[in-house]
Amino acid sequence: MDTEIVDFTQIQKAVAFLREGKPVAFPTETVYGLGASVFCEAAISKIFHIKNRPADNPLIAHISDIQQLSLLCKKIPLQASLLCKHFWPGPLTIVLEKREAISKLIGLSTIAVRMPSHPIALSLIRNLDEPIVAPSANLSGKPSPTCAKDVFEDLQGKIELILDGGPCDIGIESTVISFVGEKPLLLRPGLITKQELEEQLQSEIAFPSDSTPHHSPGMKYRHYAPKAKIKLCYNKSEMQGPFILSLQPQQGEKLLNSQTLYAHFREADRLNVETIEIECSSELMQNAALFNRIQKACEGV
Ligand code: TXA
Ligand code: MG
Repeated sequence: MDTEIVDFTQIQKAVAFLREGKPVAFPTETVYGLGASVFCEAAISKIFHIKNRPADNPLIAHISDIQQLSLLCKKIPLQASLLCKHFWPGPLTIVLEKREAISKLIGLSTIAVRMPSHPIALSLIRNLDEPIVAPSANLSGKPSPTCAKDVFEDLQGKIELILDGGPCDIGIESTVISFVGEKPLLLRPGLITKQELEEQLQSEIAFPSDSTPHHSPGMKYRHYAPKAKIKLCYNKSEMQGPFILSLQPQQGEKLLNSQTLYAHFREADRLNVETIEIECSSELMQNAALFNRIQKACEGV
């Protein structure tokens, strides 16, 4: 068994900053988040400023206890409650109707909520005793941070504290599902798959269409993007190097999986790599979450 030592004094320090309205970065099992109390408008607006995030891209609220859900949402549909019981704490975000008292900066009429499983994230929320809203702790448009050093690279000098929990286990953002419309919609694929969700619900989940009113606003922006151009290669002979990512790397190639994707993107930028070549095997295309992030990174390049 791995025993993790979490420095409690640092968590208290982070809580103190949050109480003063100063955003802090903390690890979750997916990616690092940049957090503020759900009740502190001034700190929430600082998050948008620090990240240079468009104001119409809403934030996820993180809770440590299922009881906190009713502070944020008007009602919890039975299907949503089934998923929370099964997948929380963990990398699943559900979108519900927001209580009016909750700041409009977080979202207009809806709110996305998740209970992370990372011990530091849970401890931070418990000690603050308030839900924490947190987008990924990167500058908008850059790949999400999967270790404390990535957060430092983007936000040094802009925030007071980064809680270091080592590298994130999952490495890509949570699955997002909405229960706001008539039927559940999968807004963002993640480690928890559509099939796993459907199995629990015993019913089908749809994808949003372009005309769906509650389509996740964040998905319209170019995301997860390195500066380098990304080239999808459908057979080995197309790949020239030197920066090749593959699920089954051969000599000189780099191992691609959800934990390493964003780290490779950041490394490519540090090295000023011109082109990242990705071996696009059928196995990779079947990995909905990982392939979604790669496609997002390709968009607009
Ligand atoms: O794994 C994660 O979800 C990480 C960690 C820190 O929890 N957070 C994260 O947050 O990825 P962010 O802000 O980078 O991405 C949140 C996504 C965006 O695409 C946003 O548009 C969508 O969730 N979202 C947030 N609130 C929403 C809402 N009320 N309705 C629809 N989509 C929403
Ligand atoms: Mg993000």
